[in-house]
Amino acid sequence: MTPILTIDGPGGAGKGTVSKRLAREFGWHLLDSGALYRLVGVAARKHGTDFENVTELAEIARNLDVEFRVSEEEELVQTWLEGMRADHLLRAETAGSDASVVAAIPEVRTALLERQRAFAEPPGLVADGRDMGTVVFPDAALKVFLTASAEERAKRRYKQLMEQGLSANLRALQEEMETRDRRDRERPTAPLKPAEDAWILDCTGIGIESVVAMIRERLLVVLSGQELH
Ligand code: DC
Repeated sequence: MTPILTIDGPGGAGKGTVSKRLAREFGWHLLDSGALYRLVGVAARKHGTDFENVTELAEIARNLDVEFRVSEEEELVQTWLEGMRADHLLRAETAGSDASVVAAIPEVRTALLERQRAFAEPPGLVADGRDMGTVVFPDAALKVFLTASAEERAKRRYKQLMEQGLSANLRALQEEMETRDRRDRERPTAPLKPAEDAWILDCTGIGIESVVAMIRERLLVVLSGQELH
């Protein structure tokens, strides 16, 4: 059976960075499930689809023409949507809000389920999202729920956007993130919440290196078959 590490949690908690680092260290595959929801939103905008049109949004999700290419030189994953580079369209905070809206539609989630599960290939998978441990991979070897205070998460996301050359206003960003998290937490289908057997890790004030080290240590224990307490 392919070992799976799931990392769920609200936006800006550091899931993306931590997941990428651990996937690279262990030589495992990486599933950035948020990117799939973001891509549905980007494709919907591109095709002028109404965000209320559930049938069409589900159709877009089912037929999503996406390819994740690993670029050796840049050590980056390139995202191609319908034959065009889409990375720059994905990271904007509006793409996050659009993703959160389409992600609340059960038909869209169902359409993406098998596509996500197909990422579980040997030697292992790190899956980053909101419902990785609760819905998509309920039998994961280790489930982490990574969180941090709202202020810290907004600051981290702000820094990330700045580093990518995108503009942002910290206060507006925090409000947008709070709205998004509320929508993700309160939706009836696959809401953002820790799995019952998840390890809840509040990383407020803890550097990313330490978070990676803590998860690595626990994952190694799980992989060696030892009991966790
Ligand atoms: O992780 P992210 O910021 O790229 O996710 C964008 C949105 O997609 C998030 O606000 C909710 C949705 N999402 C989801 O509903 N389920 C997932 N597994 C991943 C993301």
